[in-house]
Amino acid sequence: MTTQHALPSYLNPDDLGPWGVYLEQIERVTPHLGSLSRWVETLKRPKRILTVDVPIERDDGSIAHYEGYRVQHNMSRGPGKGGVRFHQDVTLSEVMALSAWMTVKNAAVNVPYGGAKGGIRVDPKTLSRNELQRLTRRYTSEISLIIGPNKDIPAPDVNTNEQVMAWMMDSYAMIEGNLSTGVVTGKPISLGGSLGRREATGRGVFVVGREAAAKRGVSIPGARVCIQGFGNVGGVAATMFAEAGSKVIAVQDHTGTVVNQGGLDVARLHQHVAECGSVTGFPGAEAFLDRDAFWGIESDILIPAALEQQITAANANIIRTKIILEGANGPTTPEADDILTDKDVLIVPDVLANAGGVTVSYFEWVQDFSSFFWSEDEINARLTRIMQEAFNAVWSVAQDKKVTLRTATFILACTRVLQAREVRGLYP
Ligand SMILES: NC(=O)c1ccc[n+]([C@@H]2O[C@H](COP(=O)([O-])OP(=O)(O)OC[C@H]3O[C@@H](n4cnc5c(N)ncnc54)[C@H](O)[C@@H]3O)[C@@H](O)[C@H]2O)c1
Repeated sequence: MTTQHALPSYLNPDDLGPWGVYLEQIERVTPHLGSLSRWVETLKRPKRILTVDVPIERDDGSIAHYEGYRVQHNMSRGPGKGGVRFHQDVTLSEVMALSAWMTVKNAAVNVPYGGAKGGIRVDPKTLSRNELQRLTRRYTSEISLIIGPNKDIPAPDVNTNEQVMAWMMDSYAMIEGNLSTGVVTGKPISLGGSLGRREATGRGVFVVGREAAAKRGVSIPGARVCIQGFGNVGGVAATMFAEAGSKVIAVQDHTGTVVNQGGLDVARLHQHVAECGSVTGFPGAEAFLDRDAFWGIESDILIPAALEQQITAANANIIRTKIILEGANGPTTPEADDILTDKDVLIVPDVLANAGGVTVSYFEWVQDFSSFFWSEDEINARLTRIMQEAFNAVWSVAQDKKVTLRTATFILACTRVLQAREVRGLYP
């Protein structure tokens, strides 16, 4: 289906990867866009793609080269916004899809940004801290042509953190000759970061989870929750569900799966991960499962919070849950989406469920511009309100049009993006 589009020549039509998933999602929303569908092609083509070579001197004196990207998918509604990922499997197709999902996500929660994303094809675990710093600084210098507080604002994603953002900000400030805290978000508090940013994505997952549970008649206290990924998103979501009285019965990370039907002690699991680097070997677990068996564990809420394309036609059939909260970006393929919808599983899509991070990034950017910082309570209250309103707006569209929450989110968001495109008109 997706190969019917006139594809840009830099893509392989036989292996579109995550970009193919995104294109299929756009196919599904197009019939609902009315006269705006005239502009839909704009969503199928990233506005700007920058591929960079990132050379660094290794600690042993050798020179290593890494492949880097910054993709600005759409900037009709505002400057680009989206994270930077350091991972050995980063591809252009992946960064393109992630940038497009940022366009949809930012419009879904109505923050005034377009969509962008960046990445370097590197396993950061193979680099020393100094090598990582050199890599980050050179990458920032290479993409400094197109980023800036009013142009495109990077943030953390998989394997990047506050320290990486601080290096990016400093490199940009050195190039520009002035302090530009607003060029990246997800910075340390000491450098213009925002309270609540680190927890924001997991908190947002929890807030929409609570709304979805109310719609589905699932009680949060006592709910059985399974989580894939115990990093920034999955780890915080686990803590919030546990604090609300849910039982986190299974957690999977890149090394394995720990299960306790009575509920894992999430605080102790965090300690174990901090000490040992992974969930494997956690003494509070009653079972350790292999990777695929995780998907068959019966639960009320399942949260994929690791990487994309984890829930596929191959494992969707064994999933036994009521609600899926997509903490990760792009964790479910369109085929799996259909299988799970037929099984009456309520899927809260990534472009809504994990929008808490970019929402507080927006708060950080606003605070940096005004040099006036808000309290954590204020930030959490504003975040909660935006996530609840977005969920309920999407829910109404889904009921009205009899579509999934994913298509409903795309309808709301793509309408906003294409309305902006239409009123701006084409230049020249
Ligand atoms: N950090 C944010 O603010 C944010 C915002 C929106 C979306 N996301 C998305 O959430 C997902 C996770 O991001 P993060 O920031 O928590 O990353 P992270 O690096 O903090 O954590 C990733 C977690 O996933 C696990 N993992 C990695 N590969 C795995 C595999 N093959 N199987 C099982 N577990 C695996 C890791 O062990 C780790 O626990 C990504 O898809 C990211 O794009 C993150």
